[in-house]
Amino acid sequence: MPQTIELIMPDDFHVHLRDGAALQFTVPDVARQFGRALIMPNLKPPVTSAALALSYAERIGAAIPPESIFTPLMTLYLTNKTSMGDVRNAFDAGIKGFKLYPAGATTNSDDGVTRLDLCDPALSMMAELGMPLLVHGEVTDAAVDIFDREAVFIQTVLIPLRARHPALKIVLEHITTKAAADYVQSAPEGIVATITAHHLLYNRSAMLVGGIRPHYYCLPILKRESHRAALLQAATSGSPRFFLGTDSAPHAQDAKEAACGCAGCYTASHALELYATAFEQAGALDKLEGFASVFGAQFYGLPLNTQKIRLVKESWQMPAELAFVGTQKLIPLNAGETIAWRFDGVI
Ligand code: NCD
Ligand code: ZN
Repeated sequence: MPQTIELIMPDDFHVHLRDGAALQFTVPDVARQFGRALIMPNLKPPVTSAALALSYAERIGAAIPPESIFTPLMTLYLTNKTSMGDVRNAFDAGIKGFKLYPAGATTNSDDGVTRLDLCDPALSMMAELGMPLLVHGEVTDAAVDIFDREAVFIQTVLIPLRARHPALKIVLEHITTKAAADYVQSAPEGIVATITAHHLLYNRSAMLVGGIRPHYYCLPILKRESHRAALLQAATSGSPRFFLGTDSAPHAQDAKEAACGCAGCYTASHALELYATAFEQAGALDKLEGFASVFGAQFYGLPLNTQKIRLVKESWQMPAELAFVGTQKLIPLNAGETIAWRFDGVI
């Protein structure tokens, strides 16, 4: 009998679904494995108001397979102009948080924040309402090396931000460094982090040794092995400050395999299998349920999902490509590779 694990149905607290025809591909993948997902607002143009988020949620809803219980949780894109009234409206509309993209930090972040001090009134209102700020934690200063951008962000932006807004709940998204794991672990109450499967499994050599592998390129960029080890330790520590966010971010094959390729790894199709592989490597499969299904829901004040899912230790081959919009292809992370765990569905 192959080894199996059963978990409370997990949630993905950081995912990119895109819009339009892409939803027919991205939504069923996420809805297959997760009860809920926090939907990132970096569309073109970005999702900046409750009205835009609610119509986006409707388009997502139309792509959810009929038998699925999946619920999208919506976020808004913070800008220099986000007002206290915008925050109040968002809260009243059931929006779960605002996302801070430093302008130019990543895919579709050109409308992001250029001066965080302009957001102070909005951030005060979020603190008052208990609405979390979701942070892409990288500085964009050209003088700062890309491998140092997260650690510099913590020192120069995050620590001062927390000093100005001590009651603000903050999620440091998709952390990639020991500095971030240590900071979140030792910070006062109210700060948590999501961790992707790919940052738990890979270091920068996976992206750069033996040829440049664009499908491993995402932001924040994969770091050296000591950082991966620190992230795996944090994720498997049982601390409720660390929970699952895949950062699955689809880009068509030609946008990734290009002279200037886009940042983002597509993992929605096999996310739980990757997390199980990482937790097994750390000898910590017993810690997967807290990380995947409990701590995030608790942070966001949501009930745990009532369904359960099963994973089986049985290898299968990831397809070399997935269908995507029109004639485009989507190359998932691990394309053509053997995956050690198999998602066996909702039970
Ligand atoms: C994301 C995307 O493509 O939207 N890309 C990525 O590399 N992770 C944006 C983001 O979360 O940084
Ligand atoms: Zn992301």
